[in-house]
Formats: sequence, structure tokens, C-alpha cells
Amino acid sequence: MLDLSPRNGDLEAIETASVDELRALQIGRLRWSMRHAYDHVAHYRAAFEAVGAHPDDLHELSDLARLPFTTKEDLRRNYPFGMFAVPREDVVRVHASSGTTGRPTVVGYTKDDLGMWADVVARSIRAAGGRRGMVLHNAYGYGLFTGGLGAHAGAERLGCTVVPVSGGMTERQVQLIQDFRPDIIMVTPSYMLNVIDEMERQGIRPRSTSLKIGIFGAEPWTNELRREMEQRLDLHAVDIYGLSEVIGPGVASECVETKDGLHVWEDHFYPEVVDPVTGDVLPDGAEGELVLTSLTKQAMPVVRYRTRDLTRLLPGTARTMRRLEKITGRSDDMIILRGVNLFPSQLEELILGLPALSPHFQCVLDRRGHLDSLTVRVERRENSTPQAATTAGEALRRLVKARIGVSIEVDVMDPHTIERSVGKMRRLVDHRPHR
Ligand code: DLL
Repeated sequence: MLDLSPRNGDLEAIETASVDELRALQIGRLRWSMRHAYDHVAHYRAAFEAVGAHPDDLHELSDLARLPFTTKEDLRRNYPFGMFAVPREDVVRVHASSGTTGRPTVVGYTKDDLGMWADVVARSIRAAGGRRGMVLHNAYGYGLFTGGLGAHAGAERLGCTVVPVSGGMTERQVQLIQDFRPDIIMVTPSYMLNVIDEMERQGIRPRSTSLKIGIFGAEPWTNELRREMEQRLDLHAVDIYGLSEVIGPGVASECVETKDGLHVWEDHFYPEVVDPVTGDVLPDGAEGELVLTSLTKQAMPVVRYRTRDLTRLLPGTARTMRRLEKITGRSDDMIILRGVNLFPSQLEELILGLPALSPHFQCVLDRRGHLDSLTVRVERRENSTPQAATTAGEALRRLVKARIGVSIEVDVMDPHTIERSVGKMRRLVDHRPHR
């Protein structure tokens, strides 16, 4: 594969500044941001006062731990525009999450916020090896979801030639990749798998396309899937993370030269990892829930936003900024099966170790009598026999029991029988009656 490491002069000064310089910038910005939230958002003023905190008490970054958390519930309660810290007229864009239950959450951006967002996405694409002049196929969904428009603006900012395809119409995606010969694709990893299948259906060898870089995110995916995609597509597969409440894609991103986790763009977003139960801040290296605070956002500052995403903070490598270990999953997606915790990403890891099984799988939860049961439905690979796949399914069942410590059922399915996503894949299907 191509060497896409940065050359002299490619990076912004802050990406290679000293840790002390970065911390000095952060504390100044944090004080501004917390004051801005306190002064202009009634919710934050009340929440600060409820815990006896004041923005003027922030002297060091660790003082942030005294401030209250913000949750998705807080955003819902202030639906639609109650969390805005600027007059509505200064908000030039909104996005919203669909939200599986209840009201969606709405987020807003000033013109400067959109500029900062484009900058961090441009930085992320550059970290992935993208450069000015490259053709970029953007298959993240355009619309209220932040993926499409967020990636789009960043790619333009970097100077790429953007092909704004959005998600869906898989046949046409393949056609456009053949005709426009993009260097980069931005898409969810689960949808990438569908595009690969469609290439093969059309008799196109995925390794023969022009693609050199895949920037995959918006849902958890494992290093095993990275290997699979790099092998099948002959490209560099790197991870991009973000969430609408904090900005959208571009909160953290992987560097192509190291592929060792996602550098948080800490000059704009301050990360903490907390114990999901007690809320205590954990030392770097410990696994817990990621909490993010915006340092420069104008329209909708966020104070200690609880992402529900589980990860660890690791020291910087290719950049000064700290890294997130690949996200295991959201605490909401954690399956608690007869007392044992289990994530779909752990299943992905095991499935991809068995050559007869494909990465297309879904977890179905059911209740039998008083006990919950989990059935993993997984497609066999096109080139494997049903018999080999059944043996692999049996091996998966045994591996889950041995490694994770819980009994599951495995249903090996024919190729193309599990629902396909055009964006984020629904890994969990819960058929249990509501408690
Ligand atoms: O998914 C933003 C995005 C778009 C990120 C395109 C990357 C690429 P939301 O729809 O608000 O925003 O969903 C945010 O998706 O809290 C995570 O649970 C999950 N997520 C996003 N990126 C990753 C990733 C966009 N790289 C939620 N790995 C987050 C694992 C991810 N999970």
C-alpha cells in the first residue's frame, strides 16, 4: 500500500506542539467556553448553581471535574433551541439526531462553528492521508445526520474534489467509483461492506478500484474488520469518530501512519473518561465512558457531555493530542445476558477469525421463560460451503462460551439474507417483552 505519511509542512502547528503548549491553550479556551455557557444558557447556569460551581473557579483543567455533566436527556428537555447560547438569528445551520425514542436532539452552528467543523474534518482527512486535489467519494448520508454535510465541508476545505453521493443506491455507488476514480471514500464500515458485495456482484474486483483511503466511522468497527477491508479493497482503512451533540464527524480521527487509535482534536474538544456508574474521572489508560467538553463552539457549547461511548484515553503518538482506543461500543448497546456483559464488537472480532463466516451479522435478543437468550445470525461467505459454515457457527458458539463466558445460539444464514444498512447498521434486534 502507498506511503501516505505527512511530509514537512503538511501539519498545523498545534498538531505537533508540546503537551504544555496544548494544555495552556486548552485552559484559556475552557474558561471562555464555560463562561459563555453559564452566561447564555439558562440550563447551564441552573446546573452549575445546583452543584455550587462557577466558571471563575476554573484554574486548572482538572477543575473541570467540579462541573455538572450534561446528558442527552438535558438536550431533549430543552428541545428544540433551548441549549443555544447565541441569538437564533446567528445560528446558520441545525442538525438533528433521529433518536430511537421520544424527541430528537437538535444541535446548532454559527458561521464560525461551521468553519471550525470544516477545519477539524479537513485535519481528519489529512490525518488519513488525504491531500488537496484528491477525488473524495462521500457516501455518508446528507440531511439532518451530520455525516454527509460534515464530511463534505471538510473535504472541500482540504481542497478535495468532492463527489456528494450520500448513502443508498448501491449499484450507482459502484458505477460512480468506476467512472470518477476516487482516491478516498468516506462511508460507514457496514455500508462499505455492502458496496464491496455489490462490486463483486457486478464482476468488479474490489482491489482493482482507484480507492487508496477509506475513512470509516459513525458506528463501532474492529481492527479485524480493518484487516478485512484493507485486504479486500487494497486501501488504508482509518477510523473517524464524532457525535452531533459535540459537532459531528471530526471530534477524533486516526492517523494513517500509525493506525493506533483516534487522536482527539483536543484544541477544540476536551476529553475525560469517567466511571459510568459513579461518574468519577478515571486516570488516562483506564476504560470508561467518554465525556466531552467543547472549547470553542459558539452556538451550542457542551459541558461534560456524556457520550455513553466506552473507550480509554492513551498518550499521543503521531500527534500531540491524546488518542481514544477504538470504541468498543455504547453502554446502551451493551448486551447483559444472564449477568454477563457483551458487545456486538466482541462478536465481530470472533466472527472474522472464522474464514467461513462473513462480517454480516445481527444479534437477536429474546426471552424464553424467565431467561434472556441471544441468537447471533451470521451469513456464511459466498465462497464457503453450507457445511463448512455450520462447523464455523458451532466454533463461534464455543468461542463465545470460552472467551466471554456465556452460552448463545448461532444461526448460520445464506449470503444476502440479513438486512443491509445504508448508514449505521442495526446490530441489535430486541424481541424481549418490555419490562
Ligand atoms: O455518527 C457522526 C459521524 C458521522 C461520525 C460520520 C463519524 C463519521 P451521531 O449520529 O450523533 O453522529 O452518532 C454518534 O455514533 O456517540 C458513537 O456511539 C457512534 N460513533 C460515531 N463514530 C464512531 C466510531 C455521528 N468511529 C454516535 N466508532 C457516537 C464507534 C462511533 N462509534
